[in-house]
Amino acid sequence: MTEAVTAAWAALGALDKPTLKALFADPARLDLLSARLDLPGGAVRFDWSKTHLDAAHLKGFEHLAEASGFADKRAAMFAGEAINVTEQRAVEHTALRGVGRETSVEEAFALHLRMKSLVEAIHDGALGEVRHLIHIGIGGSALGPALAVDALARDEAKVDVHVVANIDGCALEAAMRACDPATTLIAVASKTFTTTETMTNAASALAWLQENGVDDAYGRVVALTAYPEKAVEWGVDETRVLPFPESVGGRYSLWSSIGFPVALALGWEDFAEFLDGAAAMDRHFLDTDGAANLPLRAAFADLYYTQLRGTQTRAVFAYDERLRLFPDYLQQLEMESNGKAVTVDGQPLGRPSAPITWGGVGTDAQHAVFQLLHQGTHLVPVDFLATIIPGDSLDPAHHRNLLANCLAQGAALMAGRSAGDGARSYPGDRPSATILCEDLNPATLGALIAFHEHRTFAAGVLLGINSFDQFGVELGKEIAKSILAGGVSFDPSTEALLAEAGIK
Ligand code: F6P
Repeated sequence: MTEAVTAAWAALGALDKPTLKALFADPARLDLLSARLDLPGGAVRFDWSKTHLDAAHLKGFEHLAEASGFADKRAAMFAGEAINVTEQRAVEHTALRGVGRETSVEEAFALHLRMKSLVEAIHDGALGEVRHLIHIGIGGSALGPALAVDALARDEAKVDVHVVANIDGCALEAAMRACDPATTLIAVASKTFTTTETMTNAASALAWLQENGVDDAYGRVVALTAYPEKAVEWGVDETRVLPFPESVGGRYSLWSSIGFPVALALGWEDFAEFLDGAAAMDRHFLDTDGAANLPLRAAFADLYYTQLRGTQTRAVFAYDERLRLFPDYLQQLEMESNGKAVTVDGQPLGRPSAPITWGGVGTDAQHAVFQLLHQGTHLVPVDFLATIIPGDSLDPAHHRNLLANCLAQGAALMAGRSAGDGARSYPGDRPSATILCEDLNPATLGALIAFHEHRTFAAGVLLGINSFDQFGVELGKEIAKSILAGGVSFDPSTEALLAEAGIK
């Protein structure tokens, strides 16, 4: 950590921390802490006024960003420099949206053309009747497609998509039960094309097609990968392999051919709008300095709570059923990116890393976990996501109620309520931020996801973390392999459990 970074943190730590009620005594607060961004899919309003950020903290975090070299690091990412230092890789998911190094943008454009041709050929019947797609992938190769398909392809999906991640055969069996093998395509989505879960599920899906009379089962498989040669070796014809660049990280790969199920379910035009929405957020992030940069400001709020108030979790509630998978998606994005104990130089981090991201869907969560948020002893910063235009066509009372509940929760967390009886008292002063979208459509979802990608990157830069590797997932995978290979002994507890489970 440089002296400037240490000094910026010390200055932040020394600032007063007034209550939300006291902060709202400033009539300019709402203007200072909220913003409206006009995006291709409609406006989005961001409101951090119910967090404890104030002008002094915004300035303090701006100094931290400067001391951390935020502007240079952001420029380096968009320029395609190898900012993922542990793996010596560039980080170029934004090039897939047309924003980044020129050669990478051109390459992405060519790869998208290839993907578009295949998607349109399938829609035109080149592979016969296709009613279902079983998309097999895990982590970043599944969570993004699952979210986008669930959010956007509810009413008029061109193809019925099932995303299967878990190696537990129950997951694939459920998809198989819902699909007719004669009209099903299989997408094998894996950046590395080696992931055990995915390759095991892919082999079983292929066997299922064969056992159910599909003559050319391999002819029903599409591969989405950064290693096309491995897919060809596995048996997929080169014409149905959709590659993407190695410089696109797994949890940032939804914009690449990993988004194939989204394009197949929605059509190419919608997928292109999805990319455009994300590109608009890229340009905002790239061109805006200081706290006016909204993903950076969100990172300020995140760091305020983890670093200055000791919070260990942050909760995200989608008051839009279509975004019910958003918290799952964010968990990987934030926890796999910034859940690290060393800095980019390999030194001990010496401060808390990313909080635990969790959440759910409103209003369901209100009747399950909000008790703790209002009256428990933990301080949990909350994000609310909501959409003004309803996604349903039922009585408007549904949506009015949904939005009223969302906004009531933020107000209640902040205001609290005293009562003579302790059990009925609410301490209040509990923070929340609200992201209110005019509409939910491909472009808005693209922008919303890109906002969170950049928020995560910005938080990583301010912490001095490399957000783009994930070595923490390796040890467990290696141990599982050695268990299956046999001949290795473990601790007494693991040995006893293995014996009881019949694995050893
Ligand atoms: O194990 C973690 C991870 O590497 C994630 O980062 C990634 O999204 C997931 O596994 C799947 O990897 P792949 O796309 O190579 O199958």
